[in-house]
Amino acid sequence: GRSEPLKVMISGAPASGKGTQCELIVQKFGLVHISTGDLLRAELSAGTDIGNKAKEYMNSGRLVPDEIVTAMVTERLSREDAKEKGWLLDGYPRTLAQAESLERLNIRPDIYIVLDVPDEILIDRCVGRKLDPLTGKIYHVTHFPPETEDIKARLITRPDDTEEKVKSRLQIYKQNAESILPVYSNIMKKVDGNRDKDAVFAEIDSLLSRVQKEEQDARKSEAVISST
Ligand code: AP5
Repeated sequence: GRSEPLKVMISGAPASGKGTQCELIVQKFGLVHISTGDLLRAELSAGTDIGNKAKEYMNSGRLVPDEIVTAMVTERLSREDAKEKGWLLDGYPRTLAQAESLERLNIRPDIYIVLDVPDEILIDRCVGRKLDPLTGKIYHVTHFPPETEDIKARLITRPDDTEEKVKSRLQIYKQNAESILPVYSNIMKKVDGNRDKDAVFAEIDSLLSRVQKEEQDARKSEAVISST
């Protein structure tokens, strides 16, 4: 029968590779990708109220206030496509208060993936990151250079990707990460993110496939029980 849609959270320090892995996860599992960073950047470039409120925080590398981000995420999660296809939450929750908001709404993932990458690598990844504003694709000047000169010419740099701001984002991440872990400790999977992106994805792929299979098996045995 039809399988229950997957619900996945991916977390990790700035530049640990969340966005990069999410592109690959979406391609294979068809989940609705909900990235708070992407949603906020879209609000910012559209010049909305939310964008204007978030701008100062984002450009200086600080967290946007919980109530703004939580309203945005819960609205997005409640849409039909997320319920039907399953979801992949990227960059949320980032504080204990955010995790508690989801718990209150009974929104829990099947698996909580944490990408683990050493600090010095993270800084190099951020400082070399480039984004394609047309496709949203993530590049890196040395690790993943653009495919063509045309793409190269339109790539942009995020204002919060300077070395100084990355260091402060990293510190903010560390202050919060520990407090969130206990909420998801029973479904937490740490993945070594300091490898080739395909190697990282291979591990995530097998974790998600296993969770998906467990869901299917659980539903099958429920069906057997209810038919007897
Ligand atoms: P957000 O956009 O979520 O930023 P982040 O968490 O700092 O994560 P990044 O987007 O920097 O990195 P990533 O892990 O996606 O890495 P990527 O794949 O791009 O948030 C931005 C801001 O929005 C926050 O600072 C805050 O102000 C606000 N915000 C967002 N959510 C919020 C929330 N819940 N509450 C409050 N405020 C919130 O990869 C990075 C680079 O490395 C790329 O160049 C990539 O090509 C390269 N790379 C990736 N994988 C590999 C690999 N395996 N090997 C070599 N290079 C690699």
